Amino acid sequence: MERRFTQEASAGIIAAMAILKIARMGMPVLAGIARPVEDPTDPKIHRLVADMIETLADLGGVGLAAPQVHVPLRVMIFHVPANRSTEAEGAVPLTVLINPQLTPLGEEMVEDWEGCLSLPGLTGLVPRYRSLRYRGVDLDGREVEREARDFHARVVQHEYDHLDGVLYPRRLRDPSQFGFVEEIRKALAANREQP
Ligand code: NI
Repeated sequence: MERRFTQEASAGIIAAMAILKIARMGMPVLAGIARPVEDPTDPKIHRLVADMIETLADLGGVGLAAPQVHVPLRVMIFHVPANRSTEAEGAVPLTVLINPQLTPLGEEMVEDWEGCLSLPGLTGLVPRYRSLRYRGVDLDGREVEREARDFHARVVQHEYDHLDGVLYPRRLRDPSQFGFVEEIRKALAANREQP
């Protein structure tokens, strides 16, 4: 674990922020059902989320679920950068979602390539609901409720799956559409060159 220390001026103490170690596919913590959070305002939960935010920023990902940092609790964070969002929806700021619930809106499924920090270097073509509603609470225990579509909906479904011990390879419609990012990119580029 890498640790960085920052001065917390108001409290006059040294607060440690941590970049957490990511669990990789095969570790049991990624395969179990995570437990609901009893008190989202618990300082331990705030500390966990602060560390998850720092870890996600360090790795440059769009989402992270607590089981990926070895904590089997129903906590996830995500954001949608402007370049990945649809025009109508816009960027989604960093969102903390505790004890989430998802409700698909309609039956429409869309496939796209996904990656995961727990499967570094790999990618797969995963079907997801195109749009959904999600609910949960934030760090103050306030209710969060939003509708999401396209990439936003995909990220939420991917992170939610982590809370139920599901990694994206289990969602593949075609197991051959899975492999190393480098190789898949080459294969896709080669396909495009064909008449
Ligand atoms: Ni993931």
